[in-house]
Amino acid sequence: MVFFEQVKKTYHGRTKPALDEINLHIQPGQFVYLSGPSGAGKTTFLRLLFGAELPSSGLVKVLGADMGRIPARAMPRLRRKIGVIFQDFKLVRGLTVYENTALALSVAGINGKTMANQVSKTLAQVGLAARAHTLVETLSGGEQQRVAIARALVARPKLLLADEPTGNLDPENAREIMRLVVQAHTRGTTVIVATHDPQLIKLVRGPKVIRLYQGRLEEGS
Ligand SMILES: Nc1ncnc2c1ncn2[C@@H]1O[C@H](COP(=O)(O)OP(=O)(O)OP(=O)(O)O)[C@@H](O)[C@H]1O
Ligand SMILES: [Mg+2]
Repeated sequence: MVFFEQVKKTYHGRTKPALDEINLHIQPGQFVYLSGPSGAGKTTFLRLLFGAELPSSGLVKVLGADMGRIPARAMPRLRRKIGVIFQDFKLVRGLTVYENTALALSVAGINGKTMANQVSKTLAQVGLAARAHTLVETLSGGEQQRVAIARALVARPKLLLADEPTGNLDPENAREIMRLVVQAHTRGTTVIVATHDPQLIKLVRGPKVIRLYQGRLEEGS
């Protein structure tokens, strides 16, 4: 599912690598917590997985694709298999809950009845069926993050990446978001959640926990 071999990432203009000597194998169906303090490289790790950054050296393989060599024209097809949730939701203002969710399908070339069915089903799963035609900017933070989850899951990705998905939420909403992420995992999605919040890790039973510290994986990860 995910394979890292001697991966190093140094950002332009920086001397110290954000990630260094990363070797890792994530199996299909795993639930992985990527933990570590601020600046440890968690976001960088996730960005390598969905092609937002290229490794400086080493091999990053995601769903069989070599992320350092994948041609630009092959990227949209790969991205369709990867759902991403961010701390700050990244929803499109001025569009409704339904439209924000449907957008993920229309860019994947899925329209019409199939789109309508998948969007409705996914909104029901995250408890937002009744809010489908509400503008996203009028929703609470917890609701907005549920829209972000719906958008990440509507195309039925094989891999779900979440970067501090509960960082801006109160404990109750954070629990609800993690419940939905666990639900996606139960349905067969491989999940990687980056967080520096140890409380979050307690909400899931039996995850694989990997720790980054100053760009390196700690022993035992
Ligand atoms: N676009 C960038 N350009 C230059 N340096 C960057 C860039 N993005 C991140 N870095 C640096 O890379 C290192 C790792 O950053 P990263 O954002 O991956 O950490 P993080 O573990 O996600 O931290 P946080 O918990 O604060 O989100 C940091 O030293 C950071 O300053
Ligand atoms: Mg981060």
